[in-house]
Amino acid sequence: MKAPHQLLTHSPLKACLIFLLSALYMNPLFAIPKDANVDEAKVPKFTLPDPLTMTDGTPVTSSHQWSARRRGEILDLFKEHVYGRSPDGLPAGLSHQVTQTIPNFLDGKATLKEIRVLFNGKKDGPKMHILLILPNHTKKPAPAFLGLNFSGNHSIHPDSRITLSKSWMRPKKDGSVIDHKATEKARGASSSRWPVETIIDRGYALATIYYGDIDPDFDDDFKNGVQPLFYREGQKKPAANEWGSIGAWSWGLSRALDYLESDPTIDAKKVSVLGHSRLGKTSLWAGAQDQRFAIVISNDSGCGGAALSRRRFGEKVKRINTSFPHWFNDRFNQYNDNENALPIDQHQLISLIAPRPVYIASASEDLWADPTGEFLSGKYAEPVYALFGKKGLGCDQPPAVDHPVGDFIRYHRRSGKHDLTAYDWAQYLDFADRHLIKNK
Ligand code: GCU
Repeated sequence: MKAPHQLLTHSPLKACLIFLLSALYMNPLFAIPKDANVDEAKVPKFTLPDPLTMTDGTPVTSSHQWSARRRGEILDLFKEHVYGRSPDGLPAGLSHQVTQTIPNFLDGKATLKEIRVLFNGKKDGPKMHILLILPNHTKKPAPAFLGLNFSGNHSIHPDSRITLSKSWMRPKKDGSVIDHKATEKARGASSSRWPVETIIDRGYALATIYYGDIDPDFDDDFKNGVQPLFYREGQKKPAANEWGSIGAWSWGLSRALDYLESDPTIDAKKVSVLGHSRLGKTSLWAGAQDQRFAIVISNDSGCGGAALSRRRFGEKVKRINTSFPHWFNDRFNQYNDNENALPIDQHQLISLIAPRPVYIASASEDLWADPTGEFLSGKYAEPVYALFGKKGLGCDQPPAVDHPVGDFIRYHRRSGKHDLTAYDWAQYLDFADRHLIKNK
């Protein structure tokens, strides 16, 4: 599918249409089609694949067996059938440079750093810009939250010293993006999703990257973004079992973690990867593949994220593959209206994070993302956590709104819409305190 801006050329009437199409494309409430099921009574009966039975039928009874054999088996199935295989090595020449340091950010509370990662070492090649904000009041290397953002690093805070992104952006009718480029108006536009000062006050660093730096979010048959860096001779696009955009964004998160490991101001063993919506799908896939992430947080990730595909509730596999054909690998199309044939389901994605702490969050009005299906993924991942002696959700039914539950698998259903809010962050900060910071 083409992104809305590609469907039409310009005229005032067409501009209006572009806005409407963009709203449809972006807003999950608008996007709930009439044929989508949001009635619990109409959820079909299904049987989930058992995380603790090997493909050859052998039962998994120990954490050793899980780590040595079963984990790899499940990871491989997700690569082959859902997100695609990401390349193993790094592109030749990959390098990073610190491009700006501001020691008195947030009235002196924080230091801001900008880091440019040149994926093939070339300035005119694909690159990402990491915005890193560090607390000044802590003495030790800081634990950190790392997450991709939707609208550019400049959108997370209004301070005009943050470099305005020059990357391709989706059109916005409020003047914050013109001709696919961010304008000054975009500064701080997403600040409600990024409570920077609170994060800093709590002693954490925040690292964020515009997701479109890694792979612009429209279907161009993978001509831009990082994929072409890895094409074999004569290859023009990823093969049917190779990575799509979610794979690429996740890969970018791991490259950001590589940088954080090299930065002495960061405690890279205490990095929580977090994402909202499509970027929540991405944080789960990043955390499943890269076990260096200490905590994994999925905010309203829905279909292809934490929600069980077999429930066919809200957004379904066919719908997501049709609307966003570039997010998953081509093989995932085999499961359009055919979810029961999937060799895995999304509870096994959660199980790949074990024994590390995982937080799954839903919003009560976000039926498109199937809050109950998101809860159940956590629930059915519990036996894997139990192998490691770790407690999961500790309840069988989704909790009341605004009542988080669970220990190593934690879950809440915030009241309200599809969004990343101060309430969500308050839970994530407490969760990180409990699991990463001793004596709390
Ligand atoms: C759409 C899409 C969802 C996705 C969301 C987002 O609503 O259908 O799967 O999570 O966009 O990323 O904003």
